[in-house]
Amino acid sequence: MRKLSILGTGKYVPRKRISNDELAKFVDTSDEWISSRTGIKARHIIEDENTIDLALEAAKLAMADSGVRPEDIDLVIVATVTPENTFPAAANVVQAKLGIGEVMAFDLNAACSGFVYAVDVATKMMQSAAIKNALIIGSETLTKYVDWTDRNTCVLFGDGAGAVVIGDGDGEIIDSISHSRGDLDNHLYGAGVGPREINDPTPSTVGFIEMNGREVFKFATKTVPAAIEELLEKNGYELDDIDMFVCHQANERIIESSAKKLGVSMDKMFVDISEYGNTSAGSVPIALDDAMKQGVIKKGDLIVIVAFGGGFTWSSSLIRL
Ligand code: ACO
Repeated sequence: MRKLSILGTGKYVPRKRISNDELAKFVDTSDEWISSRTGIKARHIIEDENTIDLALEAAKLAMADSGVRPEDIDLVIVATVTPENTFPAAANVVQAKLGIGEVMAFDLNAACSGFVYAVDVATKMMQSAAIKNALIIGSETLTKYVDWTDRNTCVLFGDGAGAVVIGDGDGEIIDSISHSRGDLDNHLYGAGVGPREINDPTPSTVGFIEMNGREVFKFATKTVPAAIEELLEKNGYELDDIDMFVCHQANERIIESSAKKLGVSMDKMFVDISEYGNTSAGSVPIALDDAMKQGVIKKGDLIVIVAFGGGFTWSSSLIRL
């Protein structure tokens, strides 16, 4: 088996930052409600940028961090549910704009689990195919699909991207497990377009994010600890062996509840949701980059990344940095 490592990380969020207090000027909410229920204090929102711009900036930083040149990348995956075009894929544009060769590039939709799914897909492909290095990006602009009159959802989301380069190195992506439960699709979704009358001249429009918050909360607090336990048990590791858990940042209370169920101290759960809100597939790679750059995790550490999202989907990876 090849020892595939994370060779570099990067993140990018849009300049425009909206605090809870600023949001409360046009949404019937308060900093107190949002902070105490979710841990979110602010989010970054696109103005003149889109999913590909965010992906490019995060990718450039990850490539610089890894020292891997564009011509040495053989696979590009962009995990996103908010591509700016139906086609071509964001990954195709990223491949060209970064000067990467004519290699396989595609988008992956597993909602908020997208980045961890992409790590799983890429490492399995790299074990069996001639791919030297892969660029994996999670990039989202969910605020395009937020209904600003729905306080149940609009306070939760932000825009941002994170990226990693995977290749041969001193660390090891030891194992990843991904799942889905499509029968629970009604609790969290963004509706697409339906059939149209022939001759209808109006362009199709997509719907807002719809969410049953309580059901998502229940699902997440059950699934995150179960996913971690499944991954560790399969690979013969104990919770104590893990230096840090880097979870999808959807709600700090979900992370706290997961820690409690596992019997793990919150010191071992990385949390950066206060600055970004929920950036869907961007959340885990942004957190990974923040944790690395802040020195909270370092080369040689053993970490678990884990995410859940619409689908429902969930995915986890055990990684020696
Ligand atoms: N500001 C003020 N009050 C609000 C707000 C708000 N932004 N939103 C809801 N409320 C009110 C409700 O109207 C309700 O009032 P009522 O009691 O008078 O009816 C009250 O607050 C309580 O509402 P609940 O829904 O019970 O609040 P809860 O404590 O469950 O928290 C929350 C809601 C934060 C959404 C929580 O359920 C949650 O985090 N769920 C998971 C969300 C999540 O993880 N989403 C992941 C998306 S991942 C992806 O794939 C995109």
